[in-house]
Amino acid sequence: MERIEQIKKVLAERFATLELKSDILKAKELRELYGEIPKLPVEERGAFGQAVNVLRIELETMVRDAEASAESASLSSVDVTAPFDINATQPKLLPTSQGTTHPLMQEIERIVDIFGRMGFVSEESREIDDQYHMFETLNFPKGHPARDEWDTFMTVQTDKDGDPLIAPAHTSTMQNRILHKYSANLEKGEPIAAIVPDRTFRNEDLDARHEHTFYQVEGIYVSKNVNAGMLVATLKKFLEEYYGKALEVRVNPFYFPFTEPSFEFALSCPFCEKKGCGICSQSGWIELLGCGMIHPNVLKAADIDPNVYTGFAFGCGVDRLVMMKNDIEDIRHFQSAKLDFLRQF
Ligand code: PHE
Repeated sequence: MERIEQIKKVLAERFATLELKSDILKAKELRELYGEIPKLPVEERGAFGQAVNVLRIELETMVRDAEASAESASLSSVDVTAPFDINATQPKLLPTSQGTTHPLMQEIERIVDIFGRMGFVSEESREIDDQYHMFETLNFPKGHPARDEWDTFMTVQTDKDGDPLIAPAHTSTMQNRILHKYSANLEKGEPIAAIVPDRTFRNEDLDARHEHTFYQVEGIYVSKNVNAGMLVATLKKFLEEYYGKALEVRVNPFYFPFTEPSFEFALSCPFCEKKGCGICSQSGWIELLGCGMIHPNVLKAADIDPNVYTGFAFGCGVDRLVMMKNDIEDIRHFQSAKLDFLRQF
């Protein structure tokens, strides 16, 4: 009996190292124990045979438990998607073969690629900014009522002027930095051409079309003799490349403090050829983005002479583009971290 205990210990140690856990049931030691039963004196056989059976049942239970936990590890479990072991020296990560890029990131890569081929560099925004970049540089003077139209999240921390910091409500907060960073291009006779795809935040009432956290792509182009026709042509080309088909576009007057004139830009619904469908709410058109010619005050704030240079800017919601392309019915899926949703991409 003591021997059975010893063998049990040996098998338990081996079990821990086995890749295919059920192999333990084929162990030579177990087979030999069974082989010994008929050779024992009759009065010992019963108890010995029972002890061997108990050992086998224990091993079978270990195999079943190991298989069950391996199976649940491959399912959507929080322990697996967010492995956390306080004593681990290295994070336990899922094999990359089990992960995919988030659908928004996949599309942002495509957008960066398309604009890259059109000569636009790509820059990142930030997730907290000051009022100078959110408002002042964009021609919203201090105390101007247009500031109230932006549903911003503010922090308790303040900037150097004593104003609360803001989670950027749009990627336009980067305009001034981009204009500064690339102003040397203009002196060399080259345009400033940049896009900023990044995260933005608004204090929204949430529903299927509104989320507090979403993505925009800002576009900025400045050179000599830039006109609104170039803005429309650039956006049309981009959208045709993105949806892979010829589209019609429509431009309506709008108001933004940082562009003059400002436009609301719509495209003919890529899904119904203007016949009317669920995606375009039967209108045949999809309002997609805001844009316009960069206001002279915005150029001046970046030390660019508006009498010499002109430019255009646009800000396009990425979530909307991706929702339309993939027939996603609710914007809140993007931030939900639900694996059922993410694994479709
Ligand atoms: N920032 C604007 C918005 O979020 C869009 C925009 C960008 C408009 C650039 C004009 C120029 O609605």
